[in-house]
Amino acid sequence: MKSIASAPGKIILFGEHFVVHGTPAILAAIDKRVAVTSTFTENKTIRVNSEMVLGTLEVPTHIPADKLRHPIVELPFRPFIYLANKMINSHQDVNGLEITIDSDIPIGVGLGSSSACCVAAAASISGLFKELSSEEILKMSIEAEKTIFPDTSGADCTVCTYGGMIEYPSIEKIDNTFGLNLLIANSMIPHNTKNSVEKVNKFKENDEERFSQLCDLETKLIDEVITAMKNNDATTFGLKMSENQKYLEEIQVSNETINGMISSLKEISLGTKITGAGDGGCVIALVKDENVSKVPALLPKDKECFSAKIDTRGVEWKREE
Ligand code: PMV
Repeated sequence: MKSIASAPGKIILFGEHFVVHGTPAILAAIDKRVAVTSTFTENKTIRVNSEMVLGTLEVPTHIPADKLRHPIVELPFRPFIYLANKMINSHQDVNGLEITIDSDIPIGVGLGSSSACCVAAAASISGLFKELSSEEILKMSIEAEKTIFPDTSGADCTVCTYGGMIEYPSIEKIDNTFGLNLLIANSMIPHNTKNSVEKVNKFKENDEERFSQLCDLETKLIDEVITAMKNNDATTFGLKMSENQKYLEEIQVSNETINGMISSLKEISLGTKITGAGDGGCVIALVKDENVSKVPALLPKDKECFSAKIDTRGVEWKREE
């Protein structure tokens, strides 16, 4: 018997970093997905197969993920080992598990590859035993994500679970997305969310007052974005993206490459900003239909760019004999 789950990647439209400190954020799931397939095995091991980066890892069961001193357990596979052990520990009749990851979400560039993996893995591994509700999958996926990034706001796993465009933390769905034409441009510079979040913590420690003002400004900006969306006002939406980018530059998560990409896209976009942790990763640009084809020529040849469609499916799960 196989338990197969898939979950979408995501973009953060507004509020990354500040959301870790309690302000709201707006996120959308995108039409790039990861699928995780789980099966029982007779060996007393957890075997994880992933073509995307790491090949295969096989470790004994019952060893907590943070005690496994193996370079590839240090980060990307840790949530899988955590979830597998959690299930095996609570089901005495199970010897081992084999988990296979198949993803079309680029890794380490702010498109939610790690959160989507945690959500799909939570649904797939637990699905071997029983079908969970979305709320249960979300709770388990955040626990798993915390094994690699303890300070996670939980916003990423939330949108990967429910899909669509949401305000976080209210999880209110935003249905009126007025045909937003969002382009994602990948700087091809991988980033490390944990390091970027620590850098922002330092900024906060050094200047509590300014950081608190920025959090207030971000909260106000998100209110204005919600109003703009209700009014089908793409121009204001775009301006708010660029305003949000200024706040991200102030907390120092942008860099020269990202700033260069943003200024190259300025003439044809209504607004452009980092999406995700920054320090590399991706930028998103709100672009009118007639300008979409002009984007690749404006960016350096080594940057990838593609159009983001909003995913409305969220996490999906099925069992196969
Ligand atoms: O770059 P990503 O996909 O890891 O997104 C990180 C978003 C942060 O706001 C910086 C962290 C968080 O937990 O919300």
